Amino acid sequence: MAANTGMNLTLKIWRQKDAKSSGKMETYQVRDISDHMSFLEMMDVLNEQLIGEGKEPVAFDHDCREGICGMCSMYINGEAHGPDRGVTTCQLHMRKFKDGDTIYIEPWRATAFPVVKDLVVDRSSFDRVMNAGGFVSVNTSGNAQDANAIPIPKEDADKAFDAATCIGCGACVATCKNASAMLFVSAKVSQLSLLPQGQVEAKDRVQKMVDQMDKEGFGNCTNTGACEVECPKGISLDNIARMNSEYLKASTK
Ligand code: SF4
Ligand code: FES
Repeated sequence: MAANTGMNLTLKIWRQKDAKSSGKMETYQVRDISDHMSFLEMMDVLNEQLIGEGKEPVAFDHDCREGICGMCSMYINGEAHGPDRGVTTCQLHMRKFKDGDTIYIEPWRATAFPVVKDLVVDRSSFDRVMNAGGFVSVNTSGNAQDANAIPIPKEDADKAFDAATCIGCGACVATCKNASAMLFVSAKVSQLSLLPQGQVEAKDRVQKMVDQMDKEGFGNCTNTGACEVECPKGISLDNIARMNSEYLKASTK
């Protein structure tokens, strides 16, 4: 018989049947976990074990498993996406943990992200913020200008690109003591306001997106900066300053 060479871990996981039920932490043991596994692969091992025992697997969101889709929201040992920096849960490796560890796994906690089941939360509030103004309207009537014909300073293009790397994961909201969505919304506002194509609707956009953010029940920003630390894509607080200045310009039009 092969020797047990992996880690044995205790998992304390939030279990909640549905949005209306109250949840609680449950304890599970997993054995022989390889340090090469991703955190989600470890969760897969647990779920296979639970299914084998005739129990309900733990519901969690995931899709790309390569840091792109922003689905794998999990609070791990009190940190959004776990103890590593600049990674999502699907990019977190089990080598960050050691044999015998107890790991606490919870859903995002924010009024605007209600728990749907276990670790799955409803992040459609972000979609509604985007629908309120996170787009550019383009004339496609046959005389559309080639985008390359509009010169854009390299520095602006770089800043817009950096803002566009936000994957909408919600770690910023989950980390913020006020559950503020300012980092997310400011990244989306900045991405468009830095480019000439985004100027036409700039004033309406920032007002509508901020209004929707407030309607969804996100909290205020008190400049703590925890969001920037936990953001897997390194979205800068500079975007919040830019959004505030865009909002001020729009309010004094
Ligand atoms: S700003 Fe960062 S933490 Fe917030 S949604 Fe975007 S990628 Fe996630
Ligand atoms: S599963 Fe897509 S970012 Fe983690």
